[in-house]
This record gives sequence, structure tokens and C-alpha cells, in this order.
Amino acid sequence: MDIFLSILALIFFFVFFSISKRLLQSHKNLPPSPPSLPILGHLHLLKKPLHRSLSTLSNRYGPILSLRFGSRPVLVISSASLAEECLSKNDIIFANRPRLLAGKHIGYNYSAIGFASYSPHWRNLRRIATVEILSSNRIQMFSAVRIQEVRSLVKDLFRDSESGKSVVELKSKFSELTFNVMMGMIAGKRYYGDNVVDLKEAKWFREIVKEAMVLSEASNFGDFVPVLGWMDLGGVEKRMVRMAKDRNELFQALINEHQRKKKKVDFSSSMEVEIDEEKKKKKKTFIDVLLSLQETEPEYYTDQIIKGLLSALLAAGTDTSALTTEWAMSLLLNHPDVLEKAKVELDMHVGPRLLDESDLAKLPYLHCIINETLRLYPVAPLLVPHESSEESIVGGFNVARGTMLLVNVWAIHRDPELWEDPTDFKPERFQGPQIAKESLKLIPFGHGRRACPGASLAVRMVGLALGTLIQCFEWERVGEEKIDMTEGPGLTMPKAQPLKAVYKPRHTMFNLLSQL
Ligand code: HEM
Ligand SMILES: *[C@@H]1O[C@H](CO)[C@@H](O)[C@H](O)[C@H]1NC(C)=O
Ligand SMILES: *[C@@H]1O[C@H](CO)[C@@H](O)[C@H](O)[C@H]1NC(C)=O
Repeated sequence: MDIFLSILALIFFFVFFSISKRLLQSHKNLPPSPPSLPILGHLHLLKKPLHRSLSTLSNRYGPILSLRFGSRPVLVISSASLAEECLSKNDIIFANRPRLLAGKHIGYNYSAIGFASYSPHWRNLRRIATVEILSSNRIQMFSAVRIQEVRSLVKDLFRDSESGKSVVELKSKFSELTFNVMMGMIAGKRYYGDNVVDLKEAKWFREIVKEAMVLSEASNFGDFVPVLGWMDLGGVEKRMVRMAKDRNELFQALINEHQRKKKKVDFSSSMEVEIDEEKKKKKKTFIDVLLSLQETEPEYYTDQIIKGLLSALLAAGTDTSALTTEWAMSLLLNHPDVLEKAKVELDMHVGPRLLDESDLAKLPYLHCIINETLRLYPVAPLLVPHESSEESIVGGFNVARGTMLLVNVWAIHRDPELWEDPTDFKPERFQGPQIAKESLKLIPFGHGRRACPGASLAVRMVGLALGTLIQCFEWERVGEEKIDMTEGPGLTMPKAQPLKAVYKPRHTMFNLLSQL
């Protein structure tokens, strides 16, 4: 009898709970929302990969959704016009970042650029990033690093091919490439391949970066259901703390090393007047740039700020560019006609020498391929979560302050209202009149104040790698079957199956390749 009564009470409670919530919702004019559970909210409806799961919900309930991830209110947007409302019209309101556990430990206590909320501090970081580090001038200064790394990859591939057909697993090649490029620009060091100066440091660095990736990808339920956070199930927080400590030491060691070198250079330049200024400039790394700023404004440019900025750049730039290159190559292998067209373009405009970054402007079709890849496989399919700092109106609905915003870019990029044959790979759609600029229908890098500051660097890196590989080798799939394009789970959308391909050096490039 007792049990019966309590079950009845429980049922009563749930019915009451959902009815009162409905009433409350319609009264508050909130966006449509599927039925939810107490405590979990809508967490039980979500599966991996999250962008697909949210897209299914949006197909049912509409392009604007109000959800609860545990106790956290979430707004999900899946149309270009609503994205425009959030990222253009209400840009400042949605320019905060939610305080998730990863930001505390991985994002230097929410002070690093990708994790800090909209504030004078964040604006200043953003200025340093765009003006001092990722400006087109500065990026240009580092083109030698990128060229050297891409050529080194090509050289390895050539050596391993023994001039015949071979198979290569490209996923790890691309991630080593972008890691070396980023560290080359940040610290002037390589951590993979030949000429690695300090093998022990390299191993340590690679392990930490991997752990940071794993941890930021572990969906942390504690972020949404506080009780679970206090219990730290699976020890996620403990691992984060350990990783953050190790990473901090590594970056500090790099900074100290640069400071020592800088002192030496300053000393020697005061001794000999004839130091080669050009040479000094060329060797400047991101760390050097930031240390120069530290000299002029030591209170602001603390080591902590520098470390936060560097680790954010490394984390934001490495995996994203590598995965995009892998998706692009996979698409090309499944569409040999497109690959052929790209090759013809390269042969016509670059000719019998290796691709240089300055050639990229002459290769519009290659750019179309990159845009089409970013459309179908945006590696940040939900951007990075934003959070609102005030109440606002989106799509005619009220959105409360403190709501986490997810923009389903993946869904927008496949919206049949915006794109003809949305799931087909057709780089040609970007030829002719600039359709991409029309509205926010292509936003793989986000839009507005929080948009990716590394977009042009990323396009250069991907373009150079892709172009050089197409130029130097004949590429084929392993066997008859198409490349499996399934997405794996993860924060940056990875390919479930690492890409493998068959290649052989092109006859016309043989001489060039053997001279590398
Ligand atoms: C294909 C490669 C890349 C893609 C698809 C990509 C995409 C994105 C996206 C979607 C965001 C979040 C935008 C938002 O919050 O609305 C972002 C943020 C960011 N990206 Fe990238 N990115 C790429 C490469 C890079 C590179 C190479 C760098 C720099 C080295 C970089 C640095 C950053 C930083 C620092 C942020 C945080 C900005 C902030 O919160 O203010 N990204 N990126
Ligand atoms: C993190 O920042 C908050 C203020 O935002 C401060 O109260 C706290 O002490 C900081 N924690 C650490 C570990 O620096
Ligand atoms: C690729 O897309 C970007 C917008 O993201 C646009 O500015 C650029 O012109 C496009 N390039 C081509 C070749 O369509």
C-alpha cells in the first residue's frame, strides 16, 4: 500500500512538473522544446555525434530549440538566418563562453583566449592574436616554416615509396605536419621526424597534447549535472589538473629558453654593431613576439598570459587543420574527377617546380575544394559554445541570460533550402558569383566577434599541404571500395576510420622529388 501511494505521488509529481513547465514555457515565450526529464533535462535525447543528434531534433521541432543539458539552459540554432541573429545582430550579447570544467584547467582558469568571456581582457587577447600573431604580415613571415614542413612530408613519402606504389596512413602524417608547423611558428622547434633537437622534450610534449585532446573531448557530465561534478566520476578533473600542470611546465621551459637566448642576442648586439638585422627578424617566433611585448609592458604580459595564449593557439590550430586536410583528401579520393581537375590547375599555374604559398592565389579551384570540404565536414560542427550575457530575442522567442548557444553549422551547411544537392561534393558550386558571401550559409570558422582568428592561416596550411601532395604524387584508394566518410565522436569532428591511401610519385616530379 505504501509503495503504491508513493508511486502514485511520484506519477503525480511528474505530471504536475511537466504541465507546469509547459505553462511556464508558453508564458515566457521560449523556443520550442521536446519533453524533458527532471535533473537530466534533455541529456537522455543526445547521442554521439552531437551535431547529428541535434539536427534530428531540429528536423522535428524547428531550427530554433530550447534544451536543458542537466541544469544548463541551451539554445540550438540550425538556420543561416537565425545564426545571423545570434552572431551579427546580437553578437555582443552572445560573445561570452560558458564556464565548463575544461576552461578552468585547460583554459588557464578561463583566462585564455578561447575560454575567456567578453571583457576588456579578452578584447586585448584578441587584439594580440589578430594584430601581433595571426596578421597576414606575420603569417607571411612564417611561410618558410610551413613550406619546409610540407616538403619534409613529401620527402618522407617519396623515400618510403621507393619509387613504386605504396600505402600510407595519412591521418597521423597530417597531425604530425600541423603539429610541427604550429610548434615551428610558436617556438622554432620540431617535435616529429628528423632534426628533433630534444627527443625527451618532444615525447613529453606530444603526450601532453594528446592528453589535452582526450580530456577536452571527454563529455563531462559534471558540467551539466553538478552532483556528478562533485563526485568527479572517472577522475576527469584529476587528470585535467595533472595535464594542466605538466603543460604549464613545458611552456614555461620554452619561455625561459627563449628569454635566455634573447639576452644573449641583446648582449652580442650591443658588442658588435654589425649584427644582421634581417636574420634576427626571420628567426622571430611567436614566443619572441610575446616576449618583446612583455619587455614593454611587463605587468600585463605576464608569463601566465603568454602561456595561455600559446597553448590556446596550439590547441585550436593543430587538430582542426589536420582533420580538414584529411577530410579533403578523403573526398578527393572518392571523386577522382575532382582530383584530376585540381592537378590540371596546379600543372597549368605552377608548372615544373614545387608549390609555394605565393601560388595559392592563382589556384581558385583548389580554394573551391577547401570551401566544399569545410562545408560538408566543418571540424567544429557546433562552433565553440557561446553564452548570453543578457536576455535577448531570437527568432521572435525570448532567450534568457546565461543560456549556452550551440550553432549547428553542420546542419546549416547541409540545409536543402540553401544548397542544391546538399550532401554532394561539388567544388564547382563555389565557382562564379560569390555565393558564400550572401548570408551566413558557410561559416566553418564562425562569424562575428568570436570568429576564428586563425582562418586565413588555416586555409593556407591546408591549401599548401593538399596542393603539394596532389602535385607530387598519383593518389588512389586502397582497393575498390569508397573511403568510409563516417564521423567519429569528438569535439573536433574526426573521421571515424583514419585515412589510408595508395600513392606513387608522378613521373614529371621525379627529378624534383629526388633532389629534396
Ligand atoms: C580548418 C581549421 C580551423 C577551423 C575549422 C577553425 C574553426 C574555429 C571555430 C568554429 C571557432 C569558434 C568560433 C565561435 O566561437 O563562434 C574557432 C575559434 C578559434 N580558433 Fe580556429 N579554426 C581553425 C584553425 C585555427 C588556427 C590555425 C588557429 C590559430 C593558430 C585558430 C585559432 C583559434 C582561436 C584562438 C579561437 C578562439 C577565438 C575566441 O574564442 O575568441 N584556429 N576556430
Ligand atoms: C580563478 O579565477 C577566479 C576569479 O575568476 C579566482 O577567484 C580564482 O582564485 C582563480 N583560481 C586560480 C587557481 O587561479
Ligand atoms: C570560400 O569561402 C569564403 C567564405 O568562407 C569566401 O570568402 C571565399 O571567397 C570562398 N572562396 C571561393 C573560391 O569560393
